[in-house]
Amino acid sequence: MSATTKNATTTPSPATARAPSGGAGPFAGTRADGCAQLQINGQLYELPLLVGSENEHAIDISKLRAITGAITLDEGYVNTGSTTSAITFLDGEKGILRYRGYPIEVLAEKCDFVEVSYLLIYGKLPTSDELDAFRKSLSHHTMIHEDMRSFYGGFPRDAHPMATLGSVVGALSTFYQDSLDVHDPRQVEVSVHRLMAKLPTIAAYSYKKSIGQPLIYPRNDLSYCENFLQMMFAVPCEEYHIDPDFTDALDMLLIVHADHEQNCSTSTVRMVGSSDANLFASISAGISALWGPLHGGANQACVEMLERMVADGGNVKKYVELAKKKDPSFRLMGFGHRVYKNYDPRARLIKTTCDQLLAKLSLRDPMFDIAQQLEEVALADEYFIERKLYPNVDFYSGVIYRAMGIPVQMFPVLFAMGRLPGWIAHWDEMHHSPAKKICRPRQIYTGETLRAFEPIIKRS
Ligand code: CMC
Repeated sequence: MSATTKNATTTPSPATARAPSGGAGPFAGTRADGCAQLQINGQLYELPLLVGSENEHAIDISKLRAITGAITLDEGYVNTGSTTSAITFLDGEKGILRYRGYPIEVLAEKCDFVEVSYLLIYGKLPTSDELDAFRKSLSHHTMIHEDMRSFYGGFPRDAHPMATLGSVVGALSTFYQDSLDVHDPRQVEVSVHRLMAKLPTIAAYSYKKSIGQPLIYPRNDLSYCENFLQMMFAVPCEEYHIDPDFTDALDMLLIVHADHEQNCSTSTVRMVGSSDANLFASISAGISALWGPLHGGANQACVEMLERMVADGGNVKKYVELAKKKDPSFRLMGFGHRVYKNYDPRARLIKTTCDQLLAKLSLRDPMFDIAQQLEEVALADEYFIERKLYPNVDFYSGVIYRAMGIPVQMFPVLFAMGRLPGWIAHWDEMHHSPAKKICRPRQIYTGETLRAFEPIIKRS
């Protein structure tokens, strides 16, 4: 079996069967000139080519099984495009990341997180009236149903806040049953605003529960990030001063986490949503996917690794060597990426903010020093150069969170808060696509073939 791409001028041989395009409609990318030829056991098939707005090419295999009887196999979806999407463009080779066409560096400098969320969800930058209305609506929905607060009493004190977050978000569909109809645009919009507004409250309550402090009600006179910080750190018995540098750093961190096209958690949200499960259920599934240490849990794992290195005397070379041995119990966390084969542009922004914040606070964090040394050693090492492994978004973010007093278990929760508008945008885009189908991959079965049933007394 062989697959090649070639130009349009080739006339198919009589033995060539031609697959129609997937018929996915105007969102499916543009049909490119030419086609891909696939030969299976002497039979030649032609498959349409698609091209995206940034000139990425795909072979449209949507009719492959129908015309050839074969499927493709791609563990981890390394070569598989699950959808076309107009939300985020990233070029892993060049280290480019854009939301709706705007470079991440520009958005991080000029916008706050709520404005970027609007951009992702509604597809355009808001006018000032639109942004005001969006902010007002988010403020209006910040509280959670009073009965939901009693949920927190039921979770063990030492529960991971990510577990609590996912559970409470899932439970929103029990309390807000008036906004669950995925086919009613008004209900969808209400559930979008509710989620955006309530997630910081749910997240901060998860933390307060874990340290045994009273849950702090949201304050609608504060900005999105200020409100989150006061719910995290205020206590009823004294005034809490919100540090504007922390607010700015948090805004930047949430912006750079806000979307990253078809990553594991976003694909999960799309997959769950493809069954027409409501938005709260879909996002709760995305939170579970994000929790894993290879995805959003990597920021926690990275800080724990850096702490270990500091405690071990800061010998970074030893750990770089350990990472190269590929012992399954140790990986250089915060390094490497499925898509980036260049410096992750988010890591660059975070490192700069990290530098600035620590200088402003006159803080010397040995972990930041170790992280920089580790980066230097790894980037000069042939193993990392060859495999194009660079620091990713999780490498420096933990250092900022620590400087802000955010405990390590909350790091993935912060990632979830940042990623929320991206998840929502993808869930919504999927629902509006004329190509929408329930996600249902196939498999190649490798188990037993038909065998005779043995009664239990005869089994050895
Ligand atoms: N330390 C040492 N070796 C590594 C690392 C690492 N962090 N990452 C990749 N490699 C090696 C890997 O062993 C393999 O080597 P070889 O070609 O000799 O078999 C090669 O690099 C390719 O790695 P891979 O595991 O096949 O790549 P992947 O695309 O399947 O995995 C990854 C990507 C992010 C899961 C992986 O790089 C990793 O585990 N990194 C550490 C965890 C981490 O920081 N995750 C956060 C990702 S960014 C935030 C997010 O998207 O959630």
